[in-house]
Amino acid sequence: MKITKAIFPAAGFGTRFLPATKAIPKEMLPLVDKPLIQYGVEEARDSGLKEIIIVTGMGKTAIEDHFDTSVELELLLKERGKKELLKIIRKIADKVHFAYTRQSEPLGLGHAIHITKNLVGNESFAVFLSDDIIDSDVPVMKQMLSVFKEKQSPVIAVQKVPKSKTHLYGVIKGKKVGPRTYRVLDLVEKPKSSPPSNLAVIGRYILTPGIFKALERTPRGRGGELQLTDGLRELLKSEEVYAYEFSGTRFDAGDKAGFLQANISYALKRKDMARELRLFLKKLKL
Ligand code: UTP
Repeated sequence: MKITKAIFPAAGFGTRFLPATKAIPKEMLPLVDKPLIQYGVEEARDSGLKEIIIVTGMGKTAIEDHFDTSVELELLLKERGKKELLKIIRKIADKVHFAYTRQSEPLGLGHAIHITKNLVGNESFAVFLSDDIIDSDVPVMKQMLSVFKEKQSPVIAVQKVPKSKTHLYGVIKGKKVGPRTYRVLDLVEKPKSSPPSNLAVIGRYILTPGIFKALERTPRGRGGELQLTDGLRELLKSEEVYAYEFSGTRFDAGDKAGFLQANISYALKRKDMARELRLFLKKLKL
């Protein structure tokens, strides 16, 4: 089964970034000079996924505008001879197709995924949380797709985190079945004590259509929210689920400190900025 569709749930309120996210979607916050969500879309494209489905909500129209063609802007850049910028602007939505669906209330990540059921149909698909920015030689989704190719079962991205941080993540109980690959035996959302491992779930998933039925069987949690972790636990009852410890450096750009770290790290890789930024950082004498 070949995967072509990538879901981007982007309907959350982004409360950790208020007041910045009052009128600007969190997914549109810039990492150096590109919005966060564009990194995810590029990772999807570089992994061979061409159908991008974005779950939006109130106040998220900037995302649609970003991936749309702006005739006026292109004309202006052309007139002013800004060829490089024109190229960059045109590349944003190159080689991919976008579809949007709306989650009228942010009723949880599981709910956001469930509303894509009719758009996805009876196919396996990928999910990207654009807060998780991963810098890697081989796109993380591409790494995961090779596991899926072999297993034909759901694959969850995981990363080792210090024991002191496991309470911030979904954590798997797994059995190692191959290099970097685990069969998932159980999943615990934000364990307060005794985490089953130090393998934390990161925002990249490959899911089978069975997840929709599993989510329908899953009871809603606090605030009427439908959690993806609960849905995955339900899925475990009927399907094998695998976890893959990807290779790459991940930044939690949904958190203020992680967002700043990502910005510094990506800016230091940029030829046009690295020198000046390095000088500035050195001057800080930390
Ligand atoms: P987060 O837990 O990061 O929530 O959601 P959030 O609203 O984006 O940010 P904070 O915590 O309030 O600062 C993880 C992902 O799931 C999406 C979010 O847009 C984000 O990409 N999501 C979450 C939805 O699409 N719908 C929901 O109901 C909840």
